[in-house]
Amino acid sequence: MAVQINPSILSADFARLADEAQAVKGADWLHVDVMDNHFVPNLTLGVPIVESLSRATDIPLDCHLMIEDPDRWAPQFVEAGAGSVTFHAEAAAAPVRLAREIRAKGARASMALKPATPIEPFEDLLPELDMLLIMTVEPGFGGQAFLDIMLPKIRRTRELISRHGLELWLQVDGGVSAETVERCAEAGADVFVAGSAVYGTDDPAAAVRSLRAQAERATAGAPWACAH
Ligand code: DX5
Ligand code: ZN
Repeated sequence: MAVQINPSILSADFARLADEAQAVKGADWLHVDVMDNHFVPNLTLGVPIVESLSRATDIPLDCHLMIEDPDRWAPQFVEAGAGSVTFHAEAAAAPVRLAREIRAKGARASMALKPATPIEPFEDLLPELDMLLIMTVEPGFGGQAFLDIMLPKIRRTRELISRHGLELWLQVDGGVSAETVERCAEAGADVFVAGSAVYGTDDPAAAVRSLRAQAERATAGAPWACAH
């Protein structure tokens, strides 16, 4: 799997989302953070904005649902045009049923783990997923400091993926920047979400290119990585 860079629009100008999508040309996915002020202490956007954004850009949408009751809401984000939908393991009542429903509706199914949630209890579920998201901050806000203590979990997850021979993408989200992307890549991540490290710069597209180059260098030679 090649390295993928997913800019998070949480750090973009919400009044100019179409332009902000245009500003990260070359990005693999646009990461859309959906927050409900219940699962996390912040409130962002919902289905109608995802619907409009999916019409306004060719970049596929990677929707990260930080919401309660994803079993009820996630399928609506697929219908709104999301190409990948991530629900939280801590919030899903029936993760296997939900992942199957997301896939059946035509999107990639992904599950996220908060920092205190271990990967091990979910080992048997991994074949049901297209991507696993390991949060490297407590979800809720952009611009937080990367949690180095998550690196062993990334490593253990990469080992599980290799051991089971799965085609599962391993995403990291939170505090990913020029300073931390290489550590994540070396530990086994291949999909990198970056908000402030992309939209906080004068040239977001250049930031995407530079993060990609760093991650590719860091994983060169790793058995799970391949050239872009
Ligand atoms: C945080 C969100 C992230 C956020 C990352 O809960 O899930 O996607 O946008 O922002 P940075 O890259 O600034 O940490
Ligand atoms: Zn996110």
